[in-house]
Amino acid sequence: MDMLVVEGGRPLRGTVTVSGSKNAALPILAATLAVEGPVHLEGVPDLVDVHTLTTLLSALGATATTRTPGRWDVRVGDESPCLADYELVRRMRAGVCVLGPLLARRGRACVSLPGGCNIGHRPIDLHLKGLRALGARIRIDRGYVFAEADRLTGAEIDLTGPQGSTVTGTANVLVAACLARGTTTLHGAAREPEIVDLGHFLNAAGARIRGLGTSRLVIEGVAELHGVSYRIIPDRIEAATLLVAAAITQGELRIGNTRREHLSAVLQTLHEIGVAVESDGIDGLHVAAAQELRSTEITASPYPGVPTDVQAQFTALLSLATGRSVVTDTVFPDRFLHIPELCRMGAHIRREPGRGLITGVRQLSGACVMASDLRASAALLLAALAAKGESVIRRIYHLDRGYERLENKLNAVGAVIRRVNDAPEHLPDSLRVLGTMPPLTEDDAPPIPPPKFLAREDAAAKESAP
Ligand code: EPU
Repeated sequence: MDMLVVEGGRPLRGTVTVSGSKNAALPILAATLAVEGPVHLEGVPDLVDVHTLTTLLSALGATATTRTPGRWDVRVGDESPCLADYELVRRMRAGVCVLGPLLARRGRACVSLPGGCNIGHRPIDLHLKGLRALGARIRIDRGYVFAEADRLTGAEIDLTGPQGSTVTGTANVLVAACLARGTTTLHGAAREPEIVDLGHFLNAAGARIRGLGTSRLVIEGVAELHGVSYRIIPDRIEAATLLVAAAITQGELRIGNTRREHLSAVLQTLHEIGVAVESDGIDGLHVAAAQELRSTEITASPYPGVPTDVQAQFTALLSLATGRSVVTDTVFPDRFLHIPELCRMGAHIRREPGRGLITGVRQLSGACVMASDLRASAALLLAALAAKGESVIRRIYHLDRGYERLENKLNAVGAVIRRVNDAPEHLPDSLRVLGTMPPLTEDDAPPIPPPKFLAREDAAAKESAP
């Protein structure tokens, strides 16, 4: 297992390019199982998750090959397998995206339930509800979904769940509906750019989907989907992570291969924090450090809201903003495992159900921290880039699942990050405490803060109380 050793306190400067979108590439790769004929994809990021999914495609009778970086050729040869095994699906939840394509094209699927996850409970009841509405017979047995259908039939389906829309649930039902007999109307569909990209891919392969980007999709079923060449959109979450990297290190970056229209809520939030971002008129964004980071309130919600996938990165940034911030996540209310690790680096954050209450500090200090999931890893890396001294981030395999060579990209713009084997002898000397006391000063005895944290709404309620 690897860990990252980060020397903090260096402003990032230069140009960096965003890779193709992970969360668009994975459902599109899964959807190739519903296509007859060769599929050529470009802009596919080189990630552990992509390799896991292409291994799954091979197990399901497809040949998936890559000769040039970013380019994958997929062709289904044998349509008889229908088993997506636990050993592969447990490593990556997007494995569940083969369910809709298999059912629609092969009439049966046996797909492992993905299992537990560090960002909270992630059921697939809405996926199953949508597929059942199309006429599938489904049973859960021994941790697997067994699904069967002679020919799916279009239907009117509401996919709205307690937390709003479902991204991979929409992907599964959308692909299945493309090959169903008749018309399907999906209400409460996810509006995320990754679902729009999947829809464009399917339409390019002969599907008839209308309403992409809205919560109401109308799909006229077709008899088959044909081979196609398609380029995946840039990764808006990587772009957001790099924007925060520039802001948190007081740096200045030009970030290439972005789609500004996919980043509206992120750019609005950065604006509130005081970070200026400008378009370069082509596909790039220019971000410059703020004089002072301002506190704000953020609520992560389905698109076009602030993405839950940048909630952790914004939490890291706001831990250095002047004043008090509130970060709420309505999509995954338990996605806050990065908070205790950020606190190990000197952040002042209190976790409450569904939200983190942050009191900004002037500086973070390097520490040894543990990544719990993909975006938490990114948040810890960002905090480490800004912190004084060296940090060590362990369990970094999460980062490799979703970011293409992130530490190389950051090192190319001034970061100092080393990837080493996770072993005690690789811990930097600066992080070995060995019972020695640092010299404590007056700064270590700040005035005692008020007893209760007042979030803005609490304060407002207090003010308006009789
Ligand atoms: N939900 C249900 N029932 C379902 C499905 C979802 O109640 O059948 C709930 C979930 O528990 C959650 C909410 O609906 O509270 C949204 O979940 P969603 O289904 O949209 O999440 P997902 O499709 O499993 C994708 C991304 C995640 C991203 C979320 C939200 C992929 C492969 N994964 O997951 O990405 O956080 O949408 O935008 O597209 C990441 O990249 O780090 C990541 C976790």
